[in-house]
Amino acid sequence: MTKPLKLKLEVNGKTHEVSVEPRVTLLDALRDHLHLTGSKKGCDQGQCGACTVHVDGERVLSCLTLAAQVEGRAITTVEGLRPDGGDLHPVQAAFLAHDAFQCGYCTPGQIMSAVACIKEGHAGSDAEIREYMSGNLCRCGAYPHIVAAVREAKEAMAS
Ligand code: FES
Ligand code: FES
Repeated sequence: MTKPLKLKLEVNGKTHEVSVEPRVTLLDALRDHLHLTGSKKGCDQGQCGACTVHVDGERVLSCLTLAAQVEGRAITTVEGLRPDGGDLHPVQAAFLAHDAFQCGYCTPGQIMSAVACIKEGHAGSDAEIREYMSGNLCRCGAYPHIVAAVREAKEAMAS
């Protein structure tokens, strides 16, 4: 077994010390070491988007990112969108209002991607939302509701 690395991960505004093998992904560090299970493991090979989190405000696939690569950077998971248990983030509220999920497995990744998509300025039309959310797959086919939720959340975040 390879000698573990001691890392300091900044997750949702808090510093966590973890001891992990160098090969451990950010997704596994979050789920198995920090017990933040909001980020989902779908394919574990960069194909589905269920594991999407933000690193320094940009969306990344945590299954393709080593934990060691992001030491000292600001990591945000779906749990961090309302860290103090306050109001839902506008994207979360819009997903609820539009019933933008069925089984919910893809939903945390969809929400993290949607927050970034809006902040990137890539939610200007339904076609643009579909294009820039295309890395997030939904096996339940909730796509029309997801697009409607992103459209509404964009308006809410602008106001
Ligand atoms: Fe990371 Fe599917 S679990 S892209
Ligand atoms: Fe089931 Fe998207 S809601 S996979």
